Amino acid sequence: MSGDCNIGLIGLAVMGQNLVLNLLDNGNTVAVYNRTHSVTDDFVKQSANDRLVGADSLQAFVDALAKPRKIILMVKAGSPVDAVIDELQPLLDKGDIVIDGGNSLFTDSQRRSDALTPQGIHFVGCGISGGQDGARFGPSMMPGGDESAWPALKPILQGISAKTDAGEPCCEWMGDGGSGHFVKMVHNGIEYGDMQMIAEIYDLLRATGLNNETIAQRFDSWNQGRLSSYLVEITAQVLRIKDDDGSDWVDNIWDKAGQKGTGKWTAIQALELGVPGSITTEAVYARALSSRWEERQKLNAFYQPKQSLTNYDGLVDDAEAALYAAKLIAYAQGFSLLSEAAREYQWKLNMANIAQVWKAGCIIRARALDPIQKVFEQSPTLDNLMLSDFYRTELNGCESALRRLLARAIEGGVPTPALSNALAYFDGVRSARLPANLIQGQRNFFGAHEYERLPN
Ligand code: 6PG
Repeated sequence: MSGDCNIGLIGLAVMGQNLVLNLLDNGNTVAVYNRTHSVTDDFVKQSANDRLVGADSLQAFVDALAKPRKIILMVKAGSPVDAVIDELQPLLDKGDIVIDGGNSLFTDSQRRSDALTPQGIHFVGCGISGGQDGARFGPSMMPGGDESAWPALKPILQGISAKTDAGEPCCEWMGDGGSGHFVKMVHNGIEYGDMQMIAEIYDLLRATGLNNETIAQRFDSWNQGRLSSYLVEITAQVLRIKDDDGSDWVDNIWDKAGQKGTGKWTAIQALELGVPGSITTEAVYARALSSRWEERQKLNAFYQPKQSLTNYDGLVDDAEAALYAAKLIAYAQGFSLLSEAAREYQWKLNMANIAQVWKAGCIIRARALDPIQKVFEQSPTLDNLMLSDFYRTELNGCESALRRLLARAIEGGVPTPALSNALAYFDGVRSARLPANLIQGQRNFFGAHEYERLPN
């Protein structure tokens, strides 16, 4: 049997519900299924839309869909995705398309793609970014997998995705296998670094005695310029939220950061592929360290007090320039991880498209992605963004601010693992000579490991 719905969605948690409302707004006829049927019933009743069909069984859901069926899964990443696919697969026909929209590990998407292709089912792993609001009004989408599914999906997914200021869709085909979820993973790795670096700047500014409102004003004004980005914008908002008793909400939040794992996956991939991903990795460590709260309290009491941070004229301006430089370096690390993955996994990743897809709708959307897109349009195979004229001009202009700020942070004992690693990467990657000759010498001395002589 086949029905009239041009798309179906399984999993009606907030992200799933908001994607459905977005699909409906954009003219689609949508079938929905949720394991707990009352959730489907309530959602269908509330939405009161005659292009929305609620199904009380997977069979009814599949029957409501026009062929070839297009089914988006919005269930928890990991084994729940496999469980739904296992139940769904016997009900599907050759040519049907299954899209996993969760934050799945890219190797799982690769495995699912490999398992479904021989059955004639097209599998697409689609990274989706932008949280609940993105899902509702336009997310950034990173689909990858079986490319023969793309012509049928393209108008639907590009229809609901965010658009850049120039009207380009923030949804493009990424590549084969698990590439869509790989790109989303790297997005999250950059997100971790970005958030950590913003937090370090906030820590430095509060160490100079600035209050939350004044720091919020700085972030607001930075958001008008080259640092303009979603994360900078919401930082100002978060700093201004008040608790019921009038105190600043942010001051009452326990300083232990959680994590679902995508930052860690990025760090692991950077290690696996031998690409410096130090900013993301430090951001993951910083979250882990923050969570070791009791240990920190003990050590705080155990050592002599830190020196206080000494302010200087221009520190706030330096903070802006330092954050901008470090953010650019974090993007450079993220894109160089993508380049290496494309080589290793034989994906044809289009870096300009990836920059475009990240320009709106997603968590790391930022003005800086526009020049980055242009760099890749001009030099599609550039291995490291730091080799572009854009980077050279910007980093030459901001480097000294990053150094001055970090010198004060180090003297004053304000931990800046991500900002410091941005600078360390910059210094390392543009060093014609590194001390690795000595390491090779030591290795050879104690272990007769091989080494090479300098080329003449
Ligand atoms: C997005 C976000 C989203 C979420 C992750 C990361 O792109 O919309 O990245 O996927 O924030 O779940 O969360 P953690 O910080 O908990 O790892």
